Amino acid sequence: MVAIQEPLSALLAILLLLYLMKRWWSHQRYPPGPLSLPIIGGLWRIRFGIGLNERTINKMSKQYGNVYTLWLGDMPIVLLSGFETVKEGLIGHSEELSGKGSSPYVTFIKRGKGITFSNGDLWKQQRRFAVVTMRKLGTGRKSMESQIEVDAQKLVEIFACEKGQPFDPALPIINSVSNVTCNMLFGHRFPLEDENFKELVDSIEFITKFGGSLGHILFELFPWIMKRLPGPHMKVLERTKIMLSLGKKEILKHKEELSSHEPQDFIDYYLLHIEKKKDPTSTFDEDSLDDCISDLFIAGTHVSALFMQWAILLLTNRPDIQDKIIKEIDDVLGSSSICYEDHKQLPYTNAVFHEIMRYRFVVFMGIGRQTTKDVNIGRYFIPKETVVIPDMYDIFYDPQHWETPEEFNPNHFLDKDGNFITRKEFLLFGAGARACLGEHMGRMQHFLFLTSLLKAFHLQLPPGVKELSEETVVGMFLTPKPHKICAVPRESSS
Ligand code: HEM
Repeated sequence: MVAIQEPLSALLAILLLLYLMKRWWSHQRYPPGPLSLPIIGGLWRIRFGIGLNERTINKMSKQYGNVYTLWLGDMPIVLLSGFETVKEGLIGHSEELSGKGSSPYVTFIKRGKGITFSNGDLWKQQRRFAVVTMRKLGTGRKSMESQIEVDAQKLVEIFACEKGQPFDPALPIINSVSNVTCNMLFGHRFPLEDENFKELVDSIEFITKFGGSLGHILFELFPWIMKRLPGPHMKVLERTKIMLSLGKKEILKHKEELSSHEPQDFIDYYLLHIEKKKDPTSTFDEDSLDDCISDLFIAGTHVSALFMQWAILLLTNRPDIQDKIIKEIDDVLGSSSICYEDHKQLPYTNAVFHEIMRYRFVVFMGIGRQTTKDVNIGRYFIPKETVVIPDMYDIFYDPQHWETPEEFNPNHFLDKDGNFITRKEFLLFGAGARACLGEHMGRMQHFLFLTSLLKAFHLQLPPGVKELSEETVVGMFLTPKPHKICAVPRESSS
């Protein structure tokens, strides 16, 4: 027995040594970072995602430099920190960083069609189509801006129904912002009580909250086990199917009605495009359309709605800033209604809205890319097909670029004469080939929604509450903690 055991132990020892050497050798190809242990990689460094927040990631850059690797099990993730390094990556190597990685979780819930998680020619074609179509929809008779104005007024009405009593503004905001996207995609809004609409909004919430959670990390580490176990990841799959089936229903309705009118919305334009491009190499089909719908929903609605929630929370804590905004609007525009173009005449208001987005940048882990080729960033080599994540928190909170990064300070976007200044460090919508394609729509939404609300209400703390918490809840995005505010009509509060 002893005679058999000895060669077996020796064989196991050699195999282990070979495994460790192979591992060590493959790790040498990537920039250095936290020690990577077998199975868990560098996850110990971020406490396995428990209590993970924007600062956890930021602290690592102070220790490991502007380009470093965090191993998620066997998957290397290269993080970029500091404005110059991120700029070099996203803009200087735009093409090389234009890929999107397909982790076990992404392949579990997505088909790799659509825009956000597609690659290569398919992505280029779908993205170009979406950009051109959104431009067309923005300039038509029923222009996007006037549609957003309608939704902004509807939100004012919903707030007014609360009659100045405490309420949680999250759901009304999510519903109103979602309706802007519905209108662009489907050509109609949903009544807030519509069951399909409620399911859609709930599904987006659920999916985005799962991203970055412990369940998500476990799925990336052990997909073969997790796929066989019940848990929130299975619910994410169900919710994704709900989203896709709502898209399918809308596509079907549009197909039935399409011949009778000119294209009015995204689905109309897409279906016409499928008709025109009937060659076998075309990437345009109904599955891709359905994926585009869910991408535009998650990317557009969720991010915009979160910014709005933060804006209302931060302004509620700062009544003096609200008053200054209203004074500026009254002085410059009087009682006439506001259009997006007016932001140029309202430097203070514009600066506050930008500062809100800097101070609480919600796209925490959502900006990850994948290298399409080998690339060098700084003095580091990064192999093809590596996931690369820019640390945006580091840029927005860098004391070298912002006077008082930890403080809410609209002067970050004003010169000494009170004129609005654009800041090159403000990469809110990303940069390079994958930059946000809804920037114009997002900016219009914010400006019109927030100015409409501030013209109608004083946003106040509920009686007995001294301050709303500005702490973030971390998922795929940074969400505010549940809270209530009072929207007191201006006439009655002045
Ligand atoms: C304030 C609002 C918004 C912010 C802050 C925002 C921010 C971002 C960011 C940071 C990215 C990643 C960019 C990169 O990788 O460099 C992105 C991508 C994207 N955004 Fe937005 N976004 C907003 C609104 C919208 C809207 C309204 C839409 C469309 C309805 C939209 C559609 C997209 C899409 C489709 C992508 C993926 C682009 C691609 O992978 O090619 N976003 N957004």
